[in-house]
Amino acid sequence: MTPDTLKDLVRTVPDFPEPGIQFRDITTLVGNGPGLAATVNHLARMARDAGAEAIAGMEARGFIFGAAAAVELELPFIPVRKPGKLPVATIGVDYALEYGTDRLEIDPTSITDDQRVVIVDDLIATGGTAQAAVQLLRMAGGTVDDALFVIDLPDLGGARALHDAGVTVSALMQFE
Ligand code: PRP
Ligand code: HPA
Repeated sequence: MTPDTLKDLVRTVPDFPEPGIQFRDITTLVGNGPGLAATVNHLARMARDAGAEAIAGMEARGFIFGAAAAVELELPFIPVRKPGKLPVATIGVDYALEYGTDRLEIDPTSITDDQRVVIVDDLIATGGTAQAAVQLLRMAGGTVDDALFVIDLPDLGGARALHDAGVTVSALMQFE
């Protein structure tokens, strides 16, 4: 299945979570077996081409695609978690949301020095989440040069900002 065909499987929900927002919903994409398999297959190929030694995915939707791509490549998966979930000493980075802040945490022992870590998430919007993940994985000693997304919302500028932070950004599809 081509990325153009996969784009047709993404559901657009108007006015979620607020009036005026067109929410791009992957529930329908992952609910289609061949569509899910093709999406993961594209991401795994891109991660392999980027020389991935490990895949990192952000909770929660990044776990779906990141873990599946890691399985396909038989690579380790690094869960980048929302705060307070990990039972060991963590390192964390706070990042700005439209209203307020959030935080991502990892177990620093889940990365070996200079390990080439490729980030996978479902979607990049403002890029705040991905930038925090890059910062965190680099703090832990990882080499983070590539980030892969199913969906890019280019109007929100996240991919551009991540590129400016020295990361090669790739996405299977864009929604203007
Ligand atoms: C969504 C999405 C990305 C992030 C993109 O996750 O899955 O991780 O937002 O937005 P940004 O580029 O503006 O940071 P969310 O925090 O809603 O969590 P979820 O995966 O648990 O739904
Ligand atoms: N869809 C899903 N997640 C999002 C979106 C969207 O349109 N915008 C910001 N996070």
